[in-house]
Order: sequence, then structure tokens, then C-alpha cells
Amino acid sequence: MPKITYKDLRQAFSKFWEERGHKEVPPIPLVPKDDPTTLFTGSGMQQLVPYLLGEPHPLGKRLYNIQRCFRSQDIEEIGDNRHTTFFEMMGNWSLGDYFKKEQLNWFFEFLVEVLGFNPEKLYVTVFKGYKDLPADEESIEIWKEIFKKYGIKAEVGERIFKYPAEKNWWSRAGVPENMPPGEPGGPDSEVFYLFEKVNHDPAFGPYCHPNCDCGRFLEIGNSVFMQYKKLEDGSFSLLPSKNVDFGGGLERILAALQDDPDVFKTEVYLPIIKRVEELVGREYKEEAVKRNLRIIADHIKAAVFLIKDGVLPSNKEQGYVLRRLLRRVAVKVYQLSSQVDSEILLKAAQEVVEIYKGVYFGDKDREKILPVISDEVKRFKSTLKRGMRVIEKIDEIDGKKAFDLYQSYGFPLEIVKEIFEEKGQKINEEEFRAEFEKHKAISRKGAEKKFKGGLADRSEQTIKYHTATHLIHQALFDVLGDGVRQEGSNITAERLRFDFYSPVKVEENHIREVERIVNEKIKEGLPVYFKIMPKEEAHKIGAKAFFKEKYPEKVKVYFIGDYSKEFCGGPHVKNTREVGKIHIFKLKRIGANLYRLYAK
Ligand code: ALA
Repeated sequence: MPKITYKDLRQAFSKFWEERGHKEVPPIPLVPKDDPTTLFTGSGMQQLVPYLLGEPHPLGKRLYNIQRCFRSQDIEEIGDNRHTTFFEMMGNWSLGDYFKKEQLNWFFEFLVEVLGFNPEKLYVTVFKGYKDLPADEESIEIWKEIFKKYGIKAEVGERIFKYPAEKNWWSRAGVPENMPPGEPGGPDSEVFYLFEKVNHDPAFGPYCHPNCDCGRFLEIGNSVFMQYKKLEDGSFSLLPSKNVDFGGGLERILAALQDDPDVFKTEVYLPIIKRVEELVGREYKEEAVKRNLRIIADHIKAAVFLIKDGVLPSNKEQGYVLRRLLRRVAVKVYQLSSQVDSEILLKAAQEVVEIYKGVYFGDKDREKILPVISDEVKRFKSTLKRGMRVIEKIDEIDGKKAFDLYQSYGFPLEIVKEIFEEKGQKINEEEFRAEFEKHKAISRKGAEKKFKGGLADRSEQTIKYHTATHLIHQALFDVLGDGVRQEGSNITAERLRFDFYSPVKVEENHIREVERIVNEKIKEGLPVYFKIMPKEEAHKIGAKAFFKEKYPEKVKVYFIGDYSKEFCGGPHVKNTREVGKIHIFKLKRIGANLYRLYAK
């Protein structure tokens, strides 16, 4: 098989879907706008949620793109040969156009005819059914036909495997129970690649199968048949149309193409690994070193992309995740080289920029990204120093105190151990780990709560608040002038949040005036509707665009009477009267000329 490079793969994927009448939807940043439900863009379908739910898409019914993604829930899993927090998802969508037969045939054709995979090494999975949601027998029949074309007799339990909802149901929230009302989802069918040279590890069960975790199989693509929506009462209704949402991990396909299950050995990771190996003087061989090098490569790459997309280290939300990634890299570097060295992080970051040059990064990006990393490492070093002074005052160390040092100052156990060993004291590691587990359980609970409460609940109330943000946006222009710029928004069923830049200092009286105008427009009962038009025309008629977003050639513009025009995917109410009275209850300054308001 001739070697297919990273760039070849991207091109081949785009060409394949273009030839089949698909239009490219520009990828969105790693921090999605207008979606309260999630901190990061975790899949290609993120920006398509309104369209999967039934809104028409300006580019039509056949779409594709390659979307950069970040999954923060995977941080703890990094270290094996296939999990990464950052990845690129190659996606295609049918919005009520083709369905299972075309999708499964096309994806298989792409793998075998375009990329040259041996069909003998491909295995597939389908949904077994769950409560009232039926098993996907149709996909089984389609797969049998597909394999038959290649002379392969595909039997259930040998080539085609049926799994329950945990494995073969996809929604942003996971299994059907976890989906909030309004969330779309559906059964899915995955394709796995078999690494014949890997032996099954019985520690993972007596028999190997596609979803066995021993690493012999790797999932390389997932076709979701998005046809259901969760209802308030917990049951499911059919969506207005049967959609396809496909996602395939680009890095994993590269690994399968080189018949080596380690994604860190593909060209999108190897240069980072090699550079760090050289700098810390350790080889990518022994399991523990490999683990640390993988964590460094994964985290530094994710950090570089997050910074590129506008995230800065902080103690909250996206900024906190970035801080954790960078500190973890610094600690891993320390474990490998016994020093907290920003140079190593910077050189690793430069490799990331090199790998993706011309795809994601240009010449100026380095100057923007590197200082953020070196500042954060500097800050981390001074935190460590402060921690050192605390340590000097501690006479007796125990597991709990060691954990507190880890928590408050970011001291990994190894560093605490060394310091105290110099004083002739030993730490009870079991005690430390017990504290650590306790803490993990607490934070997991917190995360679950946030996820449940916060996930894109497309309830009526969030739709009303969405329309209200458009009114607020225009009213801010009316009151503060044309220098206003939207910086972001976040809507939950409880309230809306709107961030904006204003060259004029914003005072209480301005806010009361904005509120008055918004309520006046609500009372007027203005119709809310959209038009699909060329991007140029939308700019010409003065529709407000979001400066952080890249728009396709054709866009959807939402109008509120003749009061507001905005580039937007929707959904919205039909008439402003449905919004009800709006009260702006808080205004905060969040930076130089930057403000955040809350309303409900
Ligand atoms: N949205 C599907 C996934 O992320 C394709 O796996």
C-alpha cells in the first residue's frame, strides 16, 4: 500500500464527498459560540445540531468537513496508544437526504477503494436495541451485502457484532438515559480495523471482539443514524427527517493505514515525541516513559490549538482546562528530566505548529502562542516556589498533607517525596492515593451535575432566550453605538449571558435603556424569520456576523421584523411576543472594555 500522508488523507476525504454532491461547512473554533451546553467542540456535528433538529441548512442537505475537536473528559485516559484529547474528526452529513444504505456503502468504498484497506481486516458493529428503540437489523443486511461484494461471508458474531446502547447509540450526552430533553441521537454503526500482529490480552476477557479494550481492534469511523429526539417525559419522538451524522478519527485512520495501533507513531505526533525524547534524554521504549511522552505530546498539542482558538490560562472553564494541560506537561517534563523547563515545552509546541503549518497555522501563530505557554510555566514555577516555603514549615508529612500540597500548589507526589526524603521522612503513598481517589470521586460528581444541567437543552425557554440575545445585541448598538462587538453568548434554561466589547464605558442607565428597548420590541410582536443568502449579500444588508466565526459562501440570516438582522443557525421563536418580559439582572466588567451581562 503506498504511504498516505496526513495531507493526502485530508484531500482524499474532501474529494470523495465533493464528488458525491457534498458541500464543505467551515469548521468552527474549539470553543463553540452560542452553545451553553458544552465547553468545547467535541465532535463535527456540534455546529449542526439545529439542522439535525430540522432547521434547513444554507448549504443544502449534503455536507462534510474536517473538524478539530477537544474532549476534556478524556484527560485521565491519556497515556495509552489510542486516546487523545485533541483530534480531527472527518465528518459527513445527510440532512434528510440519503440514509443507511448509501452511508455504509460509501464509507466502506472510501476505506477500501480510495485508501486501499484490505476488507478482510475491517469489522463492523450495529445497535442491538434498547427498550422501545429497535435493533438495527437493516444495517446488518446492508453490511452483509457490502462484504459479499468482496467475497466475504459476513456473519453476525464473526464479522458483524451487535452491542447495546453503551456502545452503539450516539448522542452528545451518551446513552439514551443521559440525554436532556430536546437532544438528538440515534443508533450507530462503527467500523473497526484489526491489527493482526497484536495478540489478545486475556486480562480484558476470554475472547477478543471489536469493543474489547485490549487494543487489537481500533474504531476508525462511526455512522450515526440521527433520527430521534428526547422528549420532556423521557420518551423519544422521530426527528422531522432521518439524518446521517458520520465521524471518523483522522489520527486513528492514519494509524490503521500504517498497521501500527500506536497513534503517537503517526506523522501528526511523532515529531513531538522525537523532539521531547531528545530534550529530556529518554527513549520512547519503556512503558512508563512512553506514557509520559504520550501525555506530553497530547497535552501540548491540545494546548497549542486551544490558545490558537483564543483560550488563555485561567481558573475557570476553558481557561482552567488549558492551565491543567500545561501544568501536567510541566510535571511530566519534570518527571522525565528532573527540571521544570519552559524551553522543552516551547520546543514541543513549535513542533505542533510545524506539523500543521499550512493547514491550521501560519507564520504569525508562533508569536501568539509561545508567550502564553512560557508565561504559564513561569507562573507555575512561582507557585511551586511558594509551595516549597510551605513545605519547609511542615515537620511531619502524611498522605493527606502531601495531597494538599498537590492540590494547592500542583506538587506531584514524586516531588513531595523527594523533598521530604532529603529530610529523612517517608510518605505513605497509599494514604496519598486514597485522598486522591476521594477527590476524583467528588469532582466526577460535580462534572456529571454540570453536564446534566448544562447540556444543550433545546427547551422552549432556551429558544426564547436565544431570540432575546438578538434583541439585546441590536439594542446595545442603539444605546452604545456602532463600536459594540459581540464576544460570545451562553444560554441555559435559567438565564442568558451575553459578552460584548464596548468602546464606551457602560453604566447602569445604559443597561436600563437596553432593557426598555428590548421589552418594547417584544411587546410589538415582531415576526422572526430567516432567509438563506450569499454571504456577500448578508454583509451588504448589514446583518451582524460574529467576528470569531468563519462563514460559508451561503449563510442563514435571522430577521426580527426590520429591527435586527443576524447571521445565525437558529432556532428562534416565531414572534417576539413569545419571549415574555426580559430583565437584565447583572452587568460585570470582565476585561478592558469587555462586559458580561446576564438576563432572564
Ligand atoms: N457524532 C458522531 C461521533 O462523534 C459521529 O462519533
